[in-house]
Amino acid sequence: SDRYAVIGNPIGFSKSPLIHSTFAKMTGQDLVYEAIEAPLGGFNARVDQFRTEGAKGLNITAPFKLDAFAYANELSESADRAGAANCLKFEGDRIIAENFDGIGLVRDITVNLGVKMAGRRVLMLGVGGAARGALLPFLRQEPSELVLVNRTLSKAVALAEEFAGCGPLIVSGYAELADLAEGYDVVVNATSASLRGEMPPLPGNVFRGSELAYELAYGKGLTPFLQAARAEGVAKLADGVGMLVEQAAEAFAWWRGVRPGTAQVIAELTVPLS
Ligand code: ATR
Repeated sequence: SDRYAVIGNPIGFSKSPLIHSTFAKMTGQDLVYEAIEAPLGGFNARVDQFRTEGAKGLNITAPFKLDAFAYANELSESADRAGAANCLKFEGDRIIAENFDGIGLVRDITVNLGVKMAGRRVLMLGVGGAARGALLPFLRQEPSELVLVNRTLSKAVALAEEFAGCGPLIVSGYAELADLAEGYDVVVNATSASLRGEMPPLPGNVFRGSELAYELAYGKGLTPFLQAARAEGVAKLADGVGMLVEQAAEAFAWWRGVRPGTAQVIAELTVPLS
């Protein structure tokens, strides 16, 4: 059977083997999906080896998304725009890079959570790798505005310049957000603050009237960001588990030509946020 894997460091907590094995069962696809922990600095050698063994594709998680991008010899538009790859496909000498994180997030928000982004005000916290991949897919939903906030303002300005002309992108510091007349319909936390139990310095009023607060990190329960959103009365709270499963489904469809349903796997992996 065809071989695939997720590669990262550490990799022990990855849900990808479970997700893809379930997809394979659901769709009757004959494949084996492994987890590979490559040493830091050892991405290329490990992937060379895996390809020699006949592998067909890889998912890539931290800290190797930039290495995977550099390793590829063909880039999809989304990988090119993100400057990072979360998925590779091997076809003979072709090493094709994709990035499904952004589309996975959009699908989770719009399809699974039923929250429209078109014509809405969207606030994105953080401008690291996670935010970057989501930018173009978000703008394609045609929000009325997409505000990028970052502690280090210069990084937000640089990112907005890169995507100038792609849509209504606005840059702000955290402090200036307090002057808002109204809140945001969708607030997405793409900072790494929650991984350390921290909270971005967000004024409470950004949640006024919000429909959804989305935490990209998953498996962290009710993070300080989600707690703040709940305290401000936001009805829909989500973490990144749906995004994880949706990007996996995109990868599976790209590799195998058949798109698995995602609801069952999302339900299995969801830990109640309370
Ligand atoms: P990732 O690839 O997970 O996005 P990253 O590239 O290191 O990680 O980016 C982390 C993001 O989280 C950055 O936008 C960072 O803000 P700065 O650029 O100002 O450092 C943001 N971040 C991390 N901790 C934060 C905190 N406690 N409050 C606000 N923003 C934070």
